[in-house]
Amino acid sequence: IRTRVAIVGAGPAGLILSHLLADAGIDSVIVDQRTRGDIEQTIRAGILEQGTVDLLTAIDPSSRVHTVGTRHDGIELRFEGEGHRIDFPALVGRSVWLYPQHEVLKDMLALRLRAGQDLRFEVTASRVEGVDTPTPRVFATTAAGDELIIEADFVVGADGSRSVVRPAITGDAFNGHFREYPFAWFGILCEAPESSEELIYSNSDNGFALISQRSHDVQRMYFQCDPETDPTVMSEEEIWETLQSRVPGTTLKEGPIFQRDVLRFRSFVASELRHGRAALVGDAAHTVPPTGAKGMNLAVADVVLLARAVNALLVENDARLIDAYADEALKRIWKAQHFSWWMTSMLHTLPEHTEFDRRRQLGELRSVVDSEAGRTFLAEAYTGWPLA
Ligand code: DHB
Repeated sequence: IRTRVAIVGAGPAGLILSHLLADAGIDSVIVDQRTRGDIEQTIRAGILEQGTVDLLTAIDPSSRVHTVGTRHDGIELRFEGEGHRIDFPALVGRSVWLYPQHEVLKDMLALRLRAGQDLRFEVTASRVEGVDTPTPRVFATTAAGDELIIEADFVVGADGSRSVVRPAITGDAFNGHFREYPFAWFGILCEAPESSEELIYSNSDNGFALISQRSHDVQRMYFQCDPETDPTVMSEEEIWETLQSRVPGTTLKEGPIFQRDVLRFRSFVASELRHGRAALVGDAAHTVPPTGAKGMNLAVADVVLLARAVNALLVENDARLIDAYADEALKRIWKAQHFSWWMTSMLHTLPEHTEFDRRRQLGELRSVVDSEAGRTFLAEAYTGWPLA
């Protein structure tokens, strides 16, 4: 089949990109190896930056982010048994929204399908060829086992951390900058009311915990654990005891735990984000550790830049923006890499930490909360630097 832009991956990046391209009169085909149901049910992060919400609102003024989602005007950093609120609007005039990623996906899928988007589920792309020619091609297989070749003017890899588009751009699936962390998050979803009005990021002597939310009757919580932890082994009682011991000062409202998972911590930036007529966005281009919730927001920032660049290339035959795409995107990506690494390193405790490391870390937290400049730095990054 022939299209102008072949998009591999129907996550937030691919779907929002197809909308922005359609807005500019550029048709695209999206393929994703998952079913629509799988895409709509994958539990991922929950925090949207101000700029992401502004974009979703521009795409659909009646977006459910404003009815189902909740605006959060701050977070709490807790250490040495005390909470310290970071007041976003007072510091930077911006906020974040708690609105789970799978809800964004439901909204965007419905919107794109209603607009007639060519969107093919259960189509597994395997490789991309011809990125150095004017007509790159995506090779894929349908659920029925038929080969599908998509010929396009431009190919976008929005296909997550195990991207099959990436090798056509970086020359190798793993070329890039990597960092692994010696800990992970044990995440739970439980049926309970909120334990706190706002998110609590807690650095305790027993390790890190994050008290987040999903809705008035479903809560999301995490605690730092060993990456090799088997999530099925702990009893619910042990999980609650662990969480409880890490947020001294708050009595968590407990309830049945209906999902548990272990999230590994990685930082990654691909060595190249664009080669010839192909580019990477979202997790295909980079991974951040979850602390600070930058992942999906960074994907959105990538596609805003890329949509503009592809438009200039394909409609005005002007390659300047696409030539600048990687450098421009990388400025924000490395800022987000730093912020995610910084929040992570400031909040987690490590077995090999000496007493010096531990006290220095508490000193760092105190430098942030005691200083308006420190709180402002955090608030600016957390609510998101303005989109280009
Ligand atoms: C959530 C995840 C994060 O990484 C974070 O910093 C805040 C919230 C969440 O899943 O709710």
